[in-house]
This record gives sequence, C-alpha cells and structure tokens, in this order.
Amino acid sequence: MTSTTMKAVRLNAVGDGLHVESIAAPVPAADESLVRVRAAAFNRRDVFITQGLYPGIEVPRTLGSDGAGTLPDGREVVIDPMLDWGDDSHVWSPKASILGMPRDGTFAQYVAVPSGNVYDKPAHLTMEEAAALPLAGLTAYRALVTRGEVRAGETVLVPGIGGGVQTFVLLFAKALGARTIVTSRSDAKLERARALGADVTINYAVNPDWHKALKRGEVDLVVDSSGGDTLNKAFGVVRPGGRIVIYGGTRLESTFRLFPLFWNHLDIRGTSMGSPADFQAMLELVNRHEIRPAVDRVYPMDQVAAAAERMAQSEQFGKIVLTID
Ligand SMILES: NC(=O)c1ccc[n+]([C@@H]2O[C@H](COP(=O)([O-])OP(=O)(O)OC[C@H]3O[C@@H](n4cnc5c(N)ncnc54)[C@H](OP(=O)(O)O)[C@@H]3O)[C@@H](O)[C@H]2O)c1
Repeated sequence: MTSTTMKAVRLNAVGDGLHVESIAAPVPAADESLVRVRAAAFNRRDVFITQGLYPGIEVPRTLGSDGAGTLPDGREVVIDPMLDWGDDSHVWSPKASILGMPRDGTFAQYVAVPSGNVYDKPAHLTMEEAAALPLAGLTAYRALVTRGEVRAGETVLVPGIGGGVQTFVLLFAKALGARTIVTSRSDAKLERARALGADVTINYAVNPDWHKALKRGEVDLVVDSSGGDTLNKAFGVVRPGGRIVIYGGTRLESTFRLFPLFWNHLDIRGTSMGSPADFQAMLELVNRHEIRPAVDRVYPMDQVAAAAERMAQSEQFGKIVLTID
C-alpha cells in the first residue's frame, strides 16, 4: 500500500458479492477525522445491501457501519455510524443516513467520518469487541431504554436471541435489572444466552407455540425485529398496558389480530438507530457495567465473503467481526 491507496471491501454491483480491492484512501474534510480501522463488524444491513434489499443503494461502495480503530494521534476510538440525526431527539431528520451506504464505510483500512461521530473506545474492550458495539448497541439501547422505557424488575421478551442487536438487548436488560425471556431456533444459541444471563429460554423452532409456555400478562416489554408471527404470539403474553418496540423486520411483514392490541391498551413503538445522546448513554452503560459484546466469530478481511454467508444463513450468535490489517 502507498500513502494514498488502501485495501477496502467493495460492492461493485448488486448480486456481485463483496471483493477486497485496492482503492484511493479517503481524504478527510476539515470537520472530519480519518480513522485507521483495526476491526469492523457486520450488520444484517450489509447483507441486505449486497442482495439489493435496501433503499438508496449506490455502487461502487465500501460497505460497513461498525468500526473501531485509531486516530492519527494514536487515540483508540469507536465510530457512531448514525450520520446527521438532527436536532429532534424523538425522530431522525430527513437528511439522516448510516455510515456504509451511501457514504463509504468501515470495511477498509481507512474511513473518514465527521469528528463528532468519533468516541473513546471503552478501555475494557478489545478492538474486535469495540467494533461489535456501535450500530447494534445503539439500536438496542434506544429500543430498550429510550423507546422501551425498561425499568428494573420488569420482564422483557427478546425473540430471536441470535441476532446482533438482540444480544445487546439481553446484555443491557440484565445490566439494568430486568428479567429476560429469550427465544431462538437453536439450543446452542439458547445455551449461550443463558451464559449471558437470560432467565427463561425457549426454542421457537422445536416449540412453535412457544408463547403458550409463558403466563398471560407475564411480559412488560417486547423488543423485536423478526416480524412474521412473532407479534401475534407476543400479544398473548404482554400484560395489559405493556409495550412492544420494533426496530426491524427480518421476515419483512407481520400479521396480527387487532382485538388483543386495543383491548389490552398495548403500545407499539417503532425505532431505528439512535441519536448522539443515545450513543453516549449506551457507551456510559457499557463502561459502567463493563459489558462485553457477544462476538460470534472473527474473520480476516480477505474472508469477508465467508463472513457475509454466515450472517445470510443466520448461523451466528451475536456479532460477526472482521479484522482489518
Ligand atoms: N432499524 C434499525 O435501526 C435497525 C438496526 C439494526 C438492525 N435492524 C434490523 O433488525 C434485524 C436484525 O438485525 P441484526 O443485524 O441483529 O441481524 P442478525 O444478527 O442477522 O439477526 C437475525 C436474527 O433474527 C432471528 N430470527 C430469524 N427468524 C426468526 C423467527 N422466525 N423468529 C424469531 N427470530 C428470528 C434469528 O435469531 P435465532 O437464530 O436466535 O432464531 C437471527 O439470528 C434486521 O432485520 C435488521 O435489518 C434494524
């Protein structure tokens, strides 16, 4: 590599997969910082983009929303991938976007980001663990705390615990003193969830009527991104006046009966990513409780295709990380 070129994971066309190429290194603007990325992490979004299932795709692009690395002065940092959230803490601005599309992202040796999006890396985390934190940690924090308003002693239902965001929902809920019920297709993932503190674990593949294993009204808060039949089933176990927070739709759609919704005064709230205040509060929580992200596997950058395939198959428990040498 010369001083002006770098290795980056590029998407050149939808359906063409991801390729490591040598491209020009970014030149930061006056209000931007240049981060030498040491580790990056996958989100479902990166897979959706390669499959053409995401709005506003522009190619060629360097993917990647999550990254941790060093500044030119040696400071170790994590990057908040939420760009241009805006002034309203309740909702992002029309200008808001996410690092890694349309702006070139973190699957590269260097990324230029607004200096306000750069935060000190939590000292107790390795670079790989820190890279696992930003997008999923931010989304989980806002879903559980800002929008979900979780309180100590409440019971939180976390469907599909293998998901990167859901592992953070579990970790944060336990740190904040909540009881947790998690579901997964996989007993091995449920075992790992128990090790992270999950109180009740249910295999939804073995037991499609998993909701019947729970007491009616047992759950105060549901945090979901799986869609499909999860909501309809969750309605049966949420207490009257309970909350359901949705940050994703892996199965794209959901069908549910309306009666339990209005009869029980349920509150459905949508959320996406989070504000700069959410990001700071998330980092404070992680630092205060020395929370360590659930890292599924770490791949070197040139094995990015294998990493993407593992996520496409939903084989992971937690975050899939890339090391960037
Ligand atoms: N709005 C936002 O800001 C935002 C931010 C991040 C993510 N998202 C969205 O949230 C979703 C999860 O993202 P992620 O990055 O955490 O992805 P991920 O790590 O791939 O999570 C997917 C998980 O969904 C679970 N799942 C799949 N089918 C399920 C079903 N039928 N019932 C219950 N769970 C099921 C699986 O868990 P098990 O294997 O344990 O069953 C799987 O591991 C995606 O749709 C993503 O686009 C949105």
